[in-house]
Amino acid sequence: MSTAVCSDPILRTESLSVEFVTDHGWTKVVDGVDLTIPPRSTVGLVGESGSGKTVTSLAVMGLLPPAISRVSGSISLHGKPLFAGEKYVMSELRGRDVSMIFQEPRRSLDPAFTVGDQIAEVVRRHDGSPRKVAWSRAVEMLDAVGIADAPRRALAYPHEFSGGMCQRVMLAIAMVCRPKLLIADEPTTALDVTVQQQMLRLMKNLQEEFDVSILFITHDLGVVAEMCDTVNVMYAGQVVESTKVDNLFLRPRHPYTQGLLDAIPNHNDRQAPLRAIGGAVPPPWSWPTSCRFADRCPHTIAQHCEVQSIALEIDNHDTAVRCVRSEELMLEGITA
Ligand SMILES: Nc1ncnc2c1ncn2[C@@H]1O[C@H](COP(=O)(O)OP(=O)(O)O)[C@@H](O)[C@H]1O
Ligand SMILES: [Mg+2]
Repeated sequence: MSTAVCSDPILRTESLSVEFVTDHGWTKVVDGVDLTIPPRSTVGLVGESGSGKTVTSLAVMGLLPPAISRVSGSISLHGKPLFAGEKYVMSELRGRDVSMIFQEPRRSLDPAFTVGDQIAEVVRRHDGSPRKVAWSRAVEMLDAVGIADAPRRALAYPHEFSGGMCQRVMLAIAMVCRPKLLIADEPTTALDVTVQQQMLRLMKNLQEEFDVSILFITHDLGVVAEMCDTVNVMYAGQVVESTKVDNLFLRPRHPYTQGLLDAIPNHNDRQAPLRAIGGAVPPPWSWPTSCRFADRCPHTIAQHCEVQSIALEIDNHDTAVRCVRSEELMLEGITA
């Protein structure tokens, strides 16, 4: 077992893959994902719906039902293995040091208990604090996530909170035991734009105060630009581009990344047509072993792109890209 040293990333996954039982037999939906999350950083995971972002994060959390799923590869937290040799280990570390918030906060809250009770319960389960202590930590945490009049609001039930306020409560539940890693799966997708901005600002402030790393899952590149230090673009179960966030916007290397960037509305030129990527992510049982984006890519050349298993290659800006034509496309001025 490796020992933790200060330079260890908070989270590392290597060749992380997940298969599910489907009508088509065992089907791989996450394929060889390598993620590295350094201390105090925010790492983005972006891609269209169905690309494997949520399943990747559930695998890290150890929340996939073993009866219908198979995980392989390795996952480590602070240099200590969480998943190795086809099984999860150190579940206490995972429970204590990693927490997660989801897109639909209301669904994760229990309508039958006050929000104060729900936060206090997490504290009590975590370190066995007496009721009174756990309650006062719950109130403090509600205050820290910006809920006004926290001592009184702790006595309220989830239905008395708006969607944005419920997401703050979820954040309080996630952060109250001071995790080292927060996985935020589309935390602002269901919120109004103005509330979304407040939530992003709050997460940044909490990150500083609590010294937590964040895996930020989103399909919104605007949110990536605002929140992330590095970013991994996922397509059909694989990371197709991985780089620093500035690089992603200055010199996107994968045609899929470029497609995502082209699809962002331009507020300065409202006449400009929106260029959506045609089609959708194909279902996992039909993913080819060659380039999975080939049938939607404007730059596909059959004899180049239909080669077996394309690797992630690192360019001289430290961008890893999974495209056999990426060098050519750059030389032709098609990508930056
Ligand atoms: N329990 C499951 N059984 C079978 N397939 C699943 C299951 N959960 C997710 N999938 C499939 O895994 C793929 C990735 O899903 P997901 O991680 O939810 O995508 P994303 O979060 O990027 O939208 C999708 O094709 C989805 O249909
Ligand atoms: Mg998802």
